[in-house]
Amino acid sequence: MLKLVLYPDPVLEKVAEPVVEFGPELEEFVEQMFEVMHKSNGIGLAAPQVGVSKRIFIMYVQGKRRVVINPKVVSLFGTTAIEEGCLSFPGINVKVSRSSALAVEYFNEKGVLIRDMLDNLSAICFQHELDHLDGKNFIDGLSASAKSYIMKRLEREKKNREQQ
Ligand code: CO
Repeated sequence: MLKLVLYPDPVLEKVAEPVVEFGPELEEFVEQMFEVMHKSNGIGLAAPQVGVSKRIFIMYVQGKRRVVINPKVVSLFGTTAIEEGCLSFPGINVKVSRSSALAVEYFNEKGVLIRDMLDNLSAICFQHELDHLDGKNFIDGLSASAKSYIMKRLEREKKNREQQ
């Protein structure tokens, strides 16, 4: 069973490597990622969040399941911002400015090239997960004092969990 990696683990700040080999091992890994994501009630999960520094993420938004490998953004439209959460930051929500829609290309777990248009929550989720592949986290744009407040909250959360 894969284990969720929590901030500030260094793997969350590393640029992930492209996937070069498709096959049953990759498909099995993706299935395990879905298990972890559903168990944690997430809508997106990137491979670095389970300790694997590869350019893979998964999404399950508005009934659509996406496996995204070696993604490329083709074009971006508009701006939007909502309070986002992240499975690597339990209990933390941060409002992040994003593009409101985007055209993208990626491979699925079978190695098939997919061209996709996303908007609303799917677009936001895609950008959030893509940031994980570039070692970026949704708190990166915050002030030093906001970050240190979040670190304290995460510490407290961790202690609470250890006591349970
Ligand atoms: Co996240």
